[in-house]
Amino acid sequence: MWRNLKITKTSGSRLADVDFEALGFGNVFSDHMFSMTFREGAWRDPEILPYGHIALAPGCATLHYGQSVFEGLKAFLGEDNVARVFRPEMNARRLIHSCERLCIPPVDEAEFCAAIDALVGLDHAWIPRKRGQALYIRPLIFGIENHLEVRPSTAFRFIVMTAPVRAYFQEGVEPIALKVEETYTRSAPGGVGHVKTAGNYAASLYPTQLGARDGYVQMVWLDGIEHRYIEEVGAMNIFFRLKDRIVTPDLHGTILPGVTRDSAITLLRDAGHSVEERRIAIDEIVQAVHSGDLLEVFGAGTAAIIAPVGRFAYQDQVFDVQDNQAGEVTRWLYDCLTDLQRGDAEDRYGWNRLIELDVPRSAAASS
Ligand code: COI
Repeated sequence: MWRNLKITKTSGSRLADVDFEALGFGNVFSDHMFSMTFREGAWRDPEILPYGHIALAPGCATLHYGQSVFEGLKAFLGEDNVARVFRPEMNARRLIHSCERLCIPPVDEAEFCAAIDALVGLDHAWIPRKRGQALYIRPLIFGIENHLEVRPSTAFRFIVMTAPVRAYFQEGVEPIALKVEETYTRSAPGGVGHVKTAGNYAASLYPTQLGARDGYVQMVWLDGIEHRYIEEVGAMNIFFRLKDRIVTPDLHGTILPGVTRDSAITLLRDAGHSVEERRIAIDEIVQAVHSGDLLEVFGAGTAAIIAPVGRFAYQDQVFDVQDNQAGEVTRWLYDCLTDLQRGDAEDRYGWNRLIELDVPRSAAASS
């Protein structure tokens, strides 16, 4: 792809210091990162270099006004020692969409994927092997111009970093507890809730902190107008299994179009489940608890994978979902998705991008 990709390898890998049995989420970063700079109207200077601090002027407008977009995707290493990145093309397209909304010059799909190929190929030894763990890939684009006017930056940096991680929720495959947020909202029609930009996450911190005090790991966001329709959870999209169908909020411009959401819908439908994408009022879910029709709730996200929800709070009431146990469809979907991602099941959809490792396959197998 690039004839001029500059690669500077680290002189001292940190890999041996990592305890793969005790991974957190994004507190350890792999040896290298990819970087490219936009200036004078073009992306230039593609480079892989040791992961480390970058210099920014305090007047860099992104620090003040949040002109920043990012992505999250994962690489897996299967029993066959093949490294696979899950659906990077979809993340590339979402990033382009986010760029457009935030007035950021996009990185094209081929360059996005080539950056990931090169970086994961080089740092493949950082890909954890255990089910539930992965090498999380975090591409990020932000303005770097030193100015204080509220206008788009004219210079940007694209960085891709990777981090060996466990599933986002410490609970792993144990059910989590969520709180339905009634006061604060995540997004509104015409806003930026459908794109992956830093401010969406900053705005969620305060309500999430309030919920955490009561033992809830995340909020279920309701729509910004009526505070009635379920949107998403912030770190994941949400699904409800009712008696004879599975429902999830439709993509109406205020929720993030999750790659895992799309994958889950495909896998569920192909297994014969009826999946409806539509508006879902919180009252409908509360009624379904009372009638016994609510069989399962789960979240779907790159970081979260498939996360069972065992309990949720709404209007001073706490509802248990089927005795706070992970349901059978949730468990099936988790296995189905992780098998596919790790290469344990046939990739019928062509979702995995195989990565060429930076060493001969036989050497990788014995490492
Ligand atoms: C992801 O699932 O990749 C996310 O970006 C969610 C969160 C960790 C910010």
